Amino acid sequence: MPGSGMVSKTVFSPQPSPSHLYKTTLVAYSLSLIPEEVWFVDKIIDGKAIAAEIREEIAADVVALKEQGVTPGLAVVLVGDDPASRVYVTMKEKACEKAGIFSDEHKLPAETTEAQLLALIDALNRDPRIDGILVQLPLPDHVDESKVLEAISPAKDADGFHPYNVGRLVTGNPLYQPCTPFGVMKMLEHTGVDLTGKDVVVVGRSNIVGKPVALMCLAQHATVTLCHSRTRDLPAKVGQADVLIAAVGRAEMIKGDWIKEGAVVIDVGVNRVGEKKLVGDVEFEPAKQRASAITPVPGGVGPMTITMLLYNTVEGAKRRAAQQ
Ligand code: GUN
Repeated sequence: MPGSGMVSKTVFSPQPSPSHLYKTTLVAYSLSLIPEEVWFVDKIIDGKAIAAEIREEIAADVVALKEQGVTPGLAVVLVGDDPASRVYVTMKEKACEKAGIFSDEHKLPAETTEAQLLALIDALNRDPRIDGILVQLPLPDHVDESKVLEAISPAKDADGFHPYNVGRLVTGNPLYQPCTPFGVMKMLEHTGVDLTGKDVVVVGRSNIVGKPVALMCLAQHATVTLCHSRTRDLPAKVGQADVLIAAVGRAEMIKGDWIKEGAVVIDVGVNRVGEKKLVGDVEFEPAKQRASAITPVPGGVGPMTITMLLYNTVEGAKRRAAQQ
């Protein structure tokens, strides 16, 4: 692997992958001892490009499954008319269509009762065309979210939120893994980051991102610090991170000058500022000056979430095909 010892500030050895790396020849070295090409990681981790690469692989897997007579199927359930949720669900539909996955949409009114929702989930659990079931969160207040998530068959739990799948993640033997943190791990992998022995600091302890991503990093032998709203001296904790994962949902609350020189920064936050502007949880420009690699918002983690949902659905379909 060329270059790993030559990229000063990095905490990882980059692996060549044309979409998000660029190649250059170090003149100083080529004149002297090491006349070889050196791969540098582009500072910006391009989530769109990584997602596109993975989606191509997924589409190829779908073609192979269809040749075996198995069409992967994803059911998406939306209750109510939260505008952001509607946008996500439409994006999921389109992504399924593009990948050749059967998309079964259930858009239910906000007054849908818990019993009606549980009956639909029961039908989807039994539907042989469906490999993955996703119930878009948040649910209306009159519906018990835990009850709904626990009603989804763990074998079709494309979101990885069922306690069975959470338990499998905790014990280091995952089946379905939650999509956003799984996407973060794929981005680190594609960027060539080896987490072994690294200090990973996660800011945010949600069930959807913070807790699962901490477990995933632990499984890859990182030393993980999980920070939250009661953490004392957050700047000092962030300053220790070789890899910082920000998932708090507060616009630019992590300041650029807290970040250690050469750290890798993954910003999961998507926060609307004013009418149109989206920003992450990290102050991007000053953080970029110090980081060796950083995800932008938008165009960073965002495109990875739906990609991993497709990935999970296709993995479910592969298990179905293997049982035929
Ligand atoms: N709402 C926000 N993120 C998610 C997610 O990853 N899955 C589901 N089901 N709902 C969400």
